[in-house]
Amino acid sequence: MALMEILTLGEKVLKKKAVTVEEITEDIKLLAASMVETMHSAPGIGLAAPQVGQSIRLITVDLSVGRNPDELVVLINPEIVDSEGEVLDVEGCLSVPGVNEKVLRPVRVVVKGLDPEGREKIINASDYMARALCHEIDHLEGKLFIDYLSPLKRKLIKSKIRKEKEKGAQA
Ligand code: NI
Repeated sequence: MALMEILTLGEKVLKKKAVTVEEITEDIKLLAASMVETMHSAPGIGLAAPQVGQSIRLITVDLSVGRNPDELVVLINPEIVDSEGEVLDVEGCLSVPGVNEKVLRPVRVVVKGLDPEGREKIINASDYMARALCHEIDHLEGKLFIDYLSPLKRKLIKSKIRKEKEKGAQA
């Protein structure tokens, strides 16, 4: 399985609403497996298909970053069907490198989706798992966590990342 390039802020696909997966093909399963590997290798706790340039509704989450196979979640067409409470905590994103900011998220969510075998999954998540699922599902709507911040803060982050990209290009 090949590691994939994780796209960063400024790439159009990150702002696009991803399409529903109509059929779980072998290609989708391979993509999911590559995303898991890419997420673990980054290392990161979550990844959404648009972050690797595929504008489809597929996410991976693993708070254990590969240490505990039971914690890995791969969801196709995930949907938040219920949510409760509000909590402010720090989060980051592989597509917004080096930035960690506080964002308000639900304390608990119920998320429904399909696993790569096409079985319906209902996940009752709380605390950081709820946060990670909300963050990844936002990616499918073309939404990044920095979109919750003030316009000024967002502007500063965008210019910082642009400068770092330019530096990287010169190196
Ligand atoms: Ni992210």
